[in-house]
Amino acid sequence: MHTTLTMMEMTELLLVILFSWWAGNRAYRLPCREDTVRLRAEVRKLLWRVGLISVVDLAVIGCIVTGTLEMEPIFWLDRAMLHVPLMLLPLLAIWLFALPALLRLRQMAATGEAGAIRPEMRAIAAAPRMIMPFRMMTLGALFTFYFVLVPPVPFRWYEAAIPLALLLVACGLLWMRHDRRREKATRPEATFVLRPWPIRALTGIGLLAVVWAGAAPFFIIAKNNSRLPDRLDMTQGVMDYGTKGEPSGLRAHDHAAHSAIRPVSVTDLTGPITGKPDRQFTLTAEKKTIRLASGKTVDAWTYNGQIPGPELRMKNGELVEVTLINKNIDAGVTIHWHGLDVPNAEDGVAGATQDAVMPGESYTYRFRAEQTGTFWYHSHQHSNEAVQKGLFGALIVEPNDPAAARVKDITVLSHTWDEAGLAIGSSEAIEKIAVAPGTPVRLRLIHTDDWVRQSYDLTGTKFQVAAIDGTELNEPDDLENVRLWLTTGGRYDVTFTMPNGPVFLRVGREGNHGVFMSPDGTGDIPEIPNPSADFEPQRYGKPTPTPFGPDSKFDREFMMILDNKLGFYNGELDMNYTINGEVFPNTPMFMVREGELVKTTIVNRGHVDHPVHLHGHHMLVMSRNGERVSGSPWWSDTLDVASGETYEVAFLANNPGLWMDHCHNLDHAAGGMTMHLMYEGVASPFTVGNASHNHPE
Ligand code: C2O
Ligand code: CU
Repeated sequence: MHTTLTMMEMTELLLVILFSWWAGNRAYRLPCREDTVRLRAEVRKLLWRVGLISVVDLAVIGCIVTGTLEMEPIFWLDRAMLHVPLMLLPLLAIWLFALPALLRLRQMAATGEAGAIRPEMRAIAAAPRMIMPFRMMTLGALFTFYFVLVPPVPFRWYEAAIPLALLLVACGLLWMRHDRRREKATRPEATFVLRPWPIRALTGIGLLAVVWAGAAPFFIIAKNNSRLPDRLDMTQGVMDYGTKGEPSGLRAHDHAAHSAIRPVSVTDLTGPITGKPDRQFTLTAEKKTIRLASGKTVDAWTYNGQIPGPELRMKNGELVEVTLINKNIDAGVTIHWHGLDVPNAEDGVAGATQDAVMPGESYTYRFRAEQTGTFWYHSHQHSNEAVQKGLFGALIVEPNDPAAARVKDITVLSHTWDEAGLAIGSSEAIEKIAVAPGTPVRLRLIHTDDWVRQSYDLTGTKFQVAAIDGTELNEPDDLENVRLWLTTGGRYDVTFTMPNGPVFLRVGREGNHGVFMSPDGTGDIPEIPNPSADFEPQRYGKPTPTPFGPDSKFDREFMMILDNKLGFYNGELDMNYTINGEVFPNTPMFMVREGELVKTTIVNRGHVDHPVHLHGHHMLVMSRNGERVSGSPWWSDTLDVASGETYEVAFLANNPGLWMDHCHNLDHAAGGMTMHLMYEGVASPFTVGNASHNHPE
């Protein structure tokens, strides 16, 4: 809806620009017509053009009105405040000034014969009130178009002030010019001819050159300002303290709140430093050319020479130690435990919680696995390229429950390789597995691609979505013929009891990827019926109490607006993906204190999905597009916010540190769609930028 309206508006704006420009040029020539017959014909055509402009202009306004009726103010406030006046005032000027002048001219020229144009007719034709409304229309539509590309959101007048002032100046200058022309036209001896076209063309080019020369310095300044500094301390930046809500009473040491916050370094926020680990892993990062079953090869960056990296399995409550060794990844490497809320120093973000591990170096992570569920790990140094090339793997925390041993547990990790396309794990073919009827099955779906949502169809049995992003759902309902979609970085656990017949999980829509299960592991791949619906987490399962919810009092409330905006990022002009109007490092930091209950409203004004991934915390999804979550509590760490959507989420600030909060479409993150959550008083000795080798995205 939001995207459709924007696309319609842009098309209509282009038409208004075109039509009004054309009409303005014809109006400009009116006084130069040789005789009244020509003049009349021209006036008639202009009247038609006025109609055309009116229709398209009103369509623009119609789009905006539709938006105000259907969507929340954040989607249309800037349009109502800027686009509507910019489009409406010139239109009114056309109706109130140009139109009556045209009608009057038509009347004056109404004598059937071709006579000379009288001076008073010429005066009307050359008057600014004739041509200026058309020129204003063109300029108004051009500036509106600019505001579509560079929306001042959240809406603040001062951001629109400079363009609006420029518009006024342009109108003023044009008015003066046309006023002088009118004066000339009314002189009795005036002979009115257009200057020859080469002169007019040159004047036009000259004018453009002047405008360009005026704008160029600002362009160059903006371009240079956008370059990322060589060294940047992530704890320094624009701080957003949100709006203070009413105290939730959830804070641990409330009376300490107003006294000084105890400063702490991220390096002190470690997992248990002592104690014998229950489980140890060593992951060696190295470049390797991997040959897949199909014979295709992938020039991969691997953990332990395999793609994806080894699946790490552990039990809930275990102390885990992972040693990372970088053999030869020149870009450096780290490990981030996506979805696992580990202490800050173990979070694996280069430049925030550690330095990137360079070739020949190693690093040890220690944490207790305190959640149960499906997670994954990946490098958070040049993460866009690193994940694309293979530095990731599944991370499963099993429950401490003997019954779990009976479950047939199958990880379905999907990734699209540059050289080989979609694969499940490292296999591009359909995997066939023997599962005895009656066996409980858990499919752990993990999706790691950028850009695309992945679809999953399961046929042959009823099933449940037992968990989202590693958190179990309460009393999940049986589903059948329902399509699941996973956003990049997201996870679903799908459960069912193996029936007597075959079950097929199709990944993607092509039919040649997935997992086939049957009692003996053989059989034909069944047809997938068209799904009757898409899976909707917000109405799925049964509600059950949560530690906080939509009716809680929040200590702090934030607004996170995702959008598209034309601008510079690191010296490149692009349609950037912005958070609260900015790209990194100008995106704000959300500032919190330990113990606070925090609400964030996430709005996607952009035109593609943005999976919002908050490190170190799980967000309770409270509402989607104004509708409260009515099913099972829905906790997420990677929330797919589609274009035009609004989510309200809440989390408890119980894990102090410096935490990334970014779009998990890693292409977007690498383009600056990243920000962080900062606990007051936290300092970091690490920096990002060329001088430090640290490039988390
Ligand atoms: Cu999965 Cu900040 O990443
Ligand atoms: Cu994004």
